[in-house]
Amino acid sequence: MHPHIIHEKETMFELGTIENNVIQYDFDKIVAYLNYKGKLLFGKDFKIYDEDLFLVYKLCLFYIRDYKNCEKYGIDPYKGILLSGPVGCGKTSLMKLLKCITPEHNSYQVIPCRQITFQFNGKGYPTIEMYGSSNSYCFDDLGVEPDGKHFGQDCNVMGEVLLSRHDLFIQNKRLTYATTNLNANELGERYGTRVRSRMRQLFNLVAFDKDCRDKR
Ligand SMILES: Nc1ncnc2c1ncn2[C@@H]1O[C@H](COP(=O)(O)OP(=O)(O)O)[C@@H](O)[C@H]1O
Ligand SMILES: [Mg+2]
Repeated sequence: MHPHIIHEKETMFELGTIENNVIQYDFDKIVAYLNYKGKLLFGKDFKIYDEDLFLVYKLCLFYIRDYKNCEKYGIDPYKGILLSGPVGCGKTSLMKLLKCITPEHNSYQVIPCRQITFQFNGKGYPTIEMYGSSNSYCFDDLGVEPDGKHFGQDCNVMGEVLLSRHDLFIQNKRLTYATTNLNANELGERYGTRVRSRMRQLFNLVAFDKDCRDKR
C-alpha cells in the first residue's frame, strides 16, 4: 500500500514520495516524524540532536532498506544492529523509536537482558528457547545483566540466547538487535570468544561517540 505514509492521531506523515513504484524517502521528513513520535513516546523534551544526525541517518538507511546507501556506509541490511554507546546517550529510546518508521517490517520487541535473566531464574531453559528460537528481539543493555541461576545451576543466559539466535540467523535469516554500553573487548570478556565471533555475524556495529552527551 503506502508504507511511507504514517498516521498518528491527528497528523499524517509522508516520509517520502513514490517514484516509479519505488519509495524515495526524504531524510528531513523522517527526522520530523522521529521528533514528533519521540515526544509522544518519551516526553516533550525529546528531540533528535544535530550531533546524532549522522548516526540516525545510517540507522535509517537500514530501516528503510536503502541498499545502495547501506553499502556506501558499510551497513549490511541482512544483519541486525548492535547499538553501543555510553549510559544515557539514548540507545534504548532510539531502538524503540526507529522501528516506528517502518511499522510493517523490522518489527521487534525491546526487552531488557536483566528481565530475560530473571525469567530464566524462575523458568529455566524454556526461557532460552523462547528468546533464542523465534521472532525478532532487541536485547536491551546487553552485557551488564547478572548470570542466571536455575535450581542451583549457573548459566550465562544471554550468551546461550545469542548462540541460539545465531543458529536462527543462519537457518532463516531472523534478525537480532541489541543495545550495549560495553565495547567489543568487554563483550568478548563477558561472553567468550565463541559468542563474540558469532556476534560479529549477527550484528552491524553502530556506535555513539564515547563522549556523547548524556540526555537525561
Ligand atoms: N534524543 C533525546 N532527546 C531527549 N531526551 C532523550 C533523548 N534520548 C534519550 N533521552 C532521555 O534520556 C534518558 C536516557 O535515554 P535512554 O534511551 O534510556 O539511554 P541509554 O539506553 O543509552 O542509556 C531517558 O530518560 C530518555 O527519555
Ligand atoms: Mg538503555
